[in-house]
Amino acid sequence: ESTLGAAAQQSGRYFGTAIASGKLGDSAYTTIAGREFDMVTAENEMKIDATEPNRGQFNFSAGDRVYNWAVQNGKRVRGHTLAWHNQQPGWMQQLSGSTLRQAMINHINGVMNHYKGKIYAWDVVNEAYADGNSGGRRDSNLQRTGNDWIEVAFRTARAADPAAKLCYNDYNIDNWSWAKTQGVYNMVRDFKSRGVPIDCVGLQSHFNGNSPYNSNYRTTIQSFAALGVDVQITELDIQGGSATTYANVVNDCLAVPRCTGISVWGVRDTDSWLGSGASALLFDGNGNKKAAYTAVLNALNGG
Ligand code: G3I
Repeated sequence: ESTLGAAAQQSGRYFGTAIASGKLGDSAYTTIAGREFDMVTAENEMKIDATEPNRGQFNFSAGDRVYNWAVQNGKRVRGHTLAWHNQQPGWMQQLSGSTLRQAMINHINGVMNHYKGKIYAWDVVNEAYADGNSGGRRDSNLQRTGNDWIEVAFRTARAADPAAKLCYNDYNIDNWSWAKTQGVYNMVRDFKSRGVPIDCVGLQSHFNGNSPYNSNYRTTIQSFAALGVDVQITELDIQGGSATTYANVVNDCLAVPRCTGISVWGVRDTDSWLGSGASALLFDGNGNKKAAYTAVLNALNGG
């Protein structure tokens, strides 16, 4: 196959990208994105600050622009993200305790109801674990509402849209030897044993000098999958853009049946949150395919 999406579909997987609504008027951008990818994540437009700028007043205009572009171009959509310490609107940052807990529940219901039946998988909770060696939760206003906030978010999400897969999504949980990875693994194992509804783990997979790709990545994917959840590589980018590393990531996913898809976090290097100098994506700023693109396509095609 000659595009990333079609190549991934040969094994029943998808290959997606983050899409920014502000770039949908850039024809070079939409030409590449429309051709290559079969899954879309809104880079910012379905986040809490975008969708509920005032308490109880939802705004889906930018989210719908991304959603409609995706569906009109034959792509599925991942939802990102419903409960997160970052990109909270000002009103939510001010809340605490049971008021914040209820606001989180209302937010999940409001957003999931708008997109009910339309989303392949939701990142229900994003980045709730701490960096470093603790293996524990990150401190946040949400965490301070009580340790059960994550399972409450997942139970709320299941009731709001039973058709969507429900994911826990985080960065620096790619390396199996890291405490943060083990912390999330233990949470997912606990949720599965107690019947808390969770369907997938999102490995963001932002690889850089401080958190490089490690060959134990396949073990991480296999270990999560063995708990009975899908694994999705949700925000892949690799600083420096090593073709070999990109191929390793794809091959690690292909080796695990429950690794169901891969998304890169942007189209061209100039679209990356890291800036174009990081050279972290599959297309250069002129829209040319990079060596990393060819490595990914070849891996998806089985060679
Ligand atoms: O929309 C405003 C615009 O009005 C303003 O003029 C401009 C000035 O700085 O800022 C714009 O907002 C920026 C927004 O991106 C849209 O471009 C924010 O400042 C900026 O902070 C925001 O960054 C996003 C970041 O999440 C925020 O946490 C990145 O685009 C987005 O790629 C990044 O994505 C995250 C995932 O959601 C979660 N995992 C990590 C990943 C990378 O950080």
